[in-house]
Amino acid sequence: MCGIVGYVGYRDALGVVVDALRRMEYRGYDSAGVAILDGNGALAVERKAGRLANLEAELGEAGTERFAGSTGMGHTRWATHGAPTDRNAHPHRDISGKLAVVHNGIIENFAPLRRELEEAGVELLSDTDTEVAVHLVSRAYADGPTAGEFTASVHAVLQRLEGAFTLVFTHADHPGTIVAARRSTPLVVGVGEGEMFIASDVTAFIEHTREAVELGQNQAVVITAEGYRVTDFAGNTEGVHSRPFTIDWDLAAAEKGGHDYFMLKEIEEQPTAVADTLLGHFVIDEKGGRIVLDEQRLADQELREFDKVFVVACGSSYHSGLLAKYAIEHWTRVPVEVELASEFRYRDPVLDRSTLVVAISQSGETADTLEAVRHAKEQKARVLAICNTNGAQIPRESDAVIYTRTGPEIGVASTKAFLAQVAANYLVGLALAQARGTKYPDEVAREFAELESMPKLISRVLETAPQVRAIARELAHVPTVLFLGRHVGYPVALEGALKLKELAYLHAEGFAAGELKHGPIALIEQGLPVIIVMPSPKGRAVLHSKLLSNIREIQARGARTIVIAEEGDDTVRPFADDLIEIPAAPTLYQPLLSTVPLQIFAAEVAQALGYDVDKPRNLAKSVTVE
Ligand code: M6R
Repeated sequence: MCGIVGYVGYRDALGVVVDALRRMEYRGYDSAGVAILDGNGALAVERKAGRLANLEAELGEAGTERFAGSTGMGHTRWATHGAPTDRNAHPHRDISGKLAVVHNGIIENFAPLRRELEEAGVELLSDTDTEVAVHLVSRAYADGPTAGEFTASVHAVLQRLEGAFTLVFTHADHPGTIVAARRSTPLVVGVGEGEMFIASDVTAFIEHTREAVELGQNQAVVITAEGYRVTDFAGNTEGVHSRPFTIDWDLAAAEKGGHDYFMLKEIEEQPTAVADTLLGHFVIDEKGGRIVLDEQRLADQELREFDKVFVVACGSSYHSGLLAKYAIEHWTRVPVEVELASEFRYRDPVLDRSTLVVAISQSGETADTLEAVRHAKEQKARVLAICNTNGAQIPRESDAVIYTRTGPEIGVASTKAFLAQVAANYLVGLALAQARGTKYPDEVAREFAELESMPKLISRVLETAPQVRAIARELAHVPTVLFLGRHVGYPVALEGALKLKELAYLHAEGFAAGELKHGPIALIEQGLPVIIVMPSPKGRAVLHSKLLSNIREIQARGARTIVIAEEGDDTVRPFADDLIEIPAAPTLYQPLLSTVPLQIFAAEVAQALGYDVDKPRNLAKSVTVE
């Protein structure tokens, strides 16, 4: 949801800022803009609706001399207030044209602030909530107790703003200084030698430095080439703590590495993503070994006392949460409810001290999930976050965190993060089972060994890519694709349908196969493609035979059946128009394999239709608005 970058140093700021926007474009691509200070008191701004490429073309035509300077900032937008047009693109300027702002988030009290400005005779030029911030700072700088004080003027305004926001300001009278602040949306400082960066995401500056500082809630920062100073919104440093950290991955992880799209690279990275997520979570001890959740701050005693688990998440993370339910209930006998985070807090769920809430979020910034976490904490529940982004807001506000260690996921569609979340969810299930004694240590060890064997099997599933792509190209022009599964195959069907919807803009729906006869079977007509996720024949035989009957039912009605089944499952062959074979795995672990062909399928259909696989229309990677 909007990518923001600021730079102060010795390099050509325009180059640094545009490169950073390119890496953060996954956060939003409705418009892009830059503001560069040339050191002689001139602020050059360019902004353009659409992809960054449009802005680059505009900059190319304008000639870069106007943008020569070593202080600058940039923005890539996912529109909330105001259509994605040139005039709503950031940066926004004040009337003097000397002050500019870029913003991520929503200023919730923008309406009264806008009225106040209009009554004072300020003409607002955009439909955004953002623009109020720049005019308010401009007025605080022009007159009153903070007159002439850039940083103090920003601080004065920050204290008036409600909502979630990251704001970055630059002023032509103060070259070499950038003032920024955050509440509930991300902002990190990149610490270089003789240069400093601020950005929504470390990918913006990883090329220049791996030393970073994560800002806390309601913190402001001033950067100059020499250093940074973190304060609260009132400018105080006392009791204000920010967290320095070293980024443990490099530029290559944030680049496509020879692939046409990040998503394709990220699909291939899945074996490593799962292996890295499991790394160090099982230690050998005198009893043979045990699961350790090293980033957790929940004692075994607490894990024993929970009488209910809620899993809250959105989108693909929610689908991974549905899988958590199967594993946790099976291993621990503790009831698990899985809820869309956007629904959770509005229906007054029953929560108390003995409830464990597991909040799953790749980005760690999803507003719906963050609000669900806050609601759970207000009700005294304990919250365990599963997150891919070090130090993001959701893990910060949770009691404990398990990090999925996939490196940056840049394609908007979740792939490696999803599989890593499934692995992390299962770790939580095993840790609960171990603490509560519902599984013997040797059983826990066996389950962990199964998990550990998955990366190799995922690599083998990747070998099905040519076959899956061929099927995808054949089906690229159909209007509808249905996905069916039972048991753990059902969340996989939902995930397959979501991938196809978001990437290829096709009507796709996932169903629990048993539900088909209760309505959806009416959709089946001659040639309609139905992708079926078959359970293992060696697992619960009843599941397998029931799904086989469902396939027969739809084939009898003319559907084209594309079946994902375990190698050697010959019983399904006569009913499969296309058969994609995956290695055998115990039932609970099969989703780590069966999801992969569905990701490849969706990406290939999207490519065949000529869509941008990494940046599907209307979407952004991190959804920081409710
Ligand atoms: O960052 P999060 O895991 O909280 O994001 C949740 C969803 O927005 C995300 O999974 C979304 O559904 C993906 N685009 C799916 O591919």
